[in-house]
Amino acid sequence: MGNAERRAIPKRIHWAVDSMDLRPGQQVLEIGFGNGMAISLVHKLIAPDGHIHGIEQSEVQVERGSSRNSWAHKHGMLTLEHAPLATAELRPDRYDVVFATNLNIFWTGDVSAELAMIKASLRPGGTFYLFYEEPAPAKTEQVAAKVTSALETAGFTVEVIPSPTPTQWGVRAAG
Ligand SMILES: C[S@@+](CC[C@H](N)C(=O)[O-])C[C@H]1O[C@@H](n2cnc3c(N)ncnc32)[C@H](O)[C@@H]1O
Repeated sequence: MGNAERRAIPKRIHWAVDSMDLRPGQQVLEIGFGNGMAISLVHKLIAPDGHIHGIEQSEVQVERGSSRNSWAHKHGMLTLEHAPLATAELRPDRYDVVFATNLNIFWTGDVSAELAMIKASLRPGGTFYLFYEEPAPAKTEQVAAKVTSALETAGFTVEVIPSPTPTQWGVRAAG
């Protein structure tokens, strides 16, 4: 990835990826990866022997994410799956890090089954991260409250990540 391409990635995505303390060799899952911008940053941090699994329900976005990250795919570091999270097959004890950015399912409805699946898929000591950017601070607070409640009900221990702006919010959840 060139400098121009890197600069074109929104600051909220850089913030999310920088907040996750990713290390070489880690096994990572991104849910709802969109056009794959975060993946293009993550694979460099977990190289050479880490792996990213991406789940995305939109076929168009799977194509975009795949084309943006063809290098990682070619080098066996990336598997992209076209599926909604609810029907994706997550192996237990598989991931060091599971994350999503701006994925609204965690505050718009009942995701208890999905959160149980994510919790089981984390290796011991693994972490689930969620990041949001909303148009206004009040909305961000509303999202934060709903996401926190869903995570705590599912049995995660929640720690808020210091955010660079009042419209951004991120959380680190231990299983
Ligand atoms: C608002 S976009 C965010 C995309 C990217 N993560 C970002 O921050 O730019 C949400 C993405 O999640 C995908 N998505 C929504 N619900 C999903 C689900 N249940 N399972 C998998 N992907 C989902 C959508 O297709 C969309 O690409």
